[in-house]
Amino acid sequence: MKTNQSKIKKAKEYLDKNYCIGVPTETVYGLAANAYINSAVKKIFRLKKRPKNNPLIVHYADLDSLKNDCLINSNFIKLYKKFSPGPITYILRLKKNSKISKIVTNKKNNLAIRFPKHKIFKKLLKQLDYPLAAPSANIATKISAVQASDVKEEFGNKIKYILDGGKSNIGIESTIINLTNKPTILRLGGLDISKIQKTLGLKIRINTNPKNKIAPGQSLLHYSPGIPLKMNVIKPKKNQAFILIKKRKKKLDNCYYLSTKSNLNEAAKNLYSCLRKIKNKGYKSIAVEKIPNTGLGKTINDRLNRASKF
Ligand code: TXA
Ligand code: MG
Repeated sequence: MKTNQSKIKKAKEYLDKNYCIGVPTETVYGLAANAYINSAVKKIFRLKKRPKNNPLIVHYADLDSLKNDCLINSNFIKLYKKFSPGPITYILRLKKNSKISKIVTNKKNNLAIRFPKHKIFKKLLKQLDYPLAAPSANIATKISAVQASDVKEEFGNKIKYILDGGKSNIGIESTIINLTNKPTILRLGGLDISKIQKTLGLKIRINTNPKNKIAPGQSLLHYSPGIPLKMNVIKPKKNQAFILIKKRKKKLDNCYYLSTKSNLNEAAKNLYSCLRKIKNKGYKSIAVEKIPNTGLGKTINDRLNRASKF
C-alpha cells in the first residue's frame, strides 16, 4: 500500500514536469495541470477535446496564494469565510500582472477559482508553488468522474498518473457564482444556493442558460451517458434502465436506486456512478422517476435535463 504522502510526491513530480494528471476533489475528479504554464494548460484542452473558448477553473490551497492573481471583494470574503474550502467556485477579476496562462481564460479578464476541501488534494496544492487548472476529468459533454477508475475509463493511458483519493464525497460539480458584478449563479452545484442567498443577504440572480456567454460550458448537451434519457417517468418501458430516488418494497426489474430514502445529498453523490454503470451494462435507454426539485434536487434535475438532450 502506498502512503498518501508518497502518492502526493509522485503527483507533484508529474505536475512539476508540466504533465496533466487526474486529481480527486470532494465534488468530482479533475484533470489538472500547472495554471501558469501555457504548454501544460494546452494539454488539458487537447485531452478533454474541449473547445478553446470554454475557460477552466483554477484551484488554490488558500487565500494567500490567490492574492497575486485576483482582485478580491467583500461578497467574496463573506462567502469564502462561510463556504471555502468546499463546493463553490467564484468568478473574480484577474489582476493585470497575474501569472495565470492566457489559455486558461481564453484571454478574458475573469477567472473562475475554487478552494477544494478534499484532504489529499489540499495537501498536494500546499506543496506546489503554482495553482492548478482543472476541469472535470471527463471527455467534453460526457459523464463526470467520481473515482479514479472512472478517470481511467475516460482517458486510458493518455494520462500519466491519477492521484487516487477514493470516491468523491459530494459527487456533483461545484456551484459557480459570478462576483465580478451583481452576484449571479452561473451553474447549480454541490452547494445549495439558498445557503448562499442567506449569507449574502440578498436575492441572487440565476443565469444557467446555455446561451449564457460568460459560462460557455453550460451548453445544453452535457453529462451525457450517450443513450437517450427521459425524466419524470412513472412507468418505464421494458428493457429500459429505471433510476429511482428511493427503494421500493416491490423489486422492479432494471432498477437503480440513487438513495434508500429520498435523501437528495446521497442521491447527488450516486448520480454519476449510476449513469456510468447503466451505460456500461449496455442498456439502450434510461428512464428516471420524478426527483423533488428542492436543495440538491435542483442540481440533480439540472444535470438530468442536460443529459436528456442526447
Ligand atoms: O466541482 C468542480 O467545479 C469541478 C472540480 C474538478 O473542481 N470542476 C469543473 O470544471 O466542474 P468544468 O471545467 O467541468 O466546469 C467549469 C465550468 C464550465 O462551465 C466553464 O464554462 C465555467 O465553469 N467557467 C470557467 N471559467 C469561467 C469564467 N472565467 N467565467 C465564467 N464561467 C467560467
Ligand atoms: Mg465538466
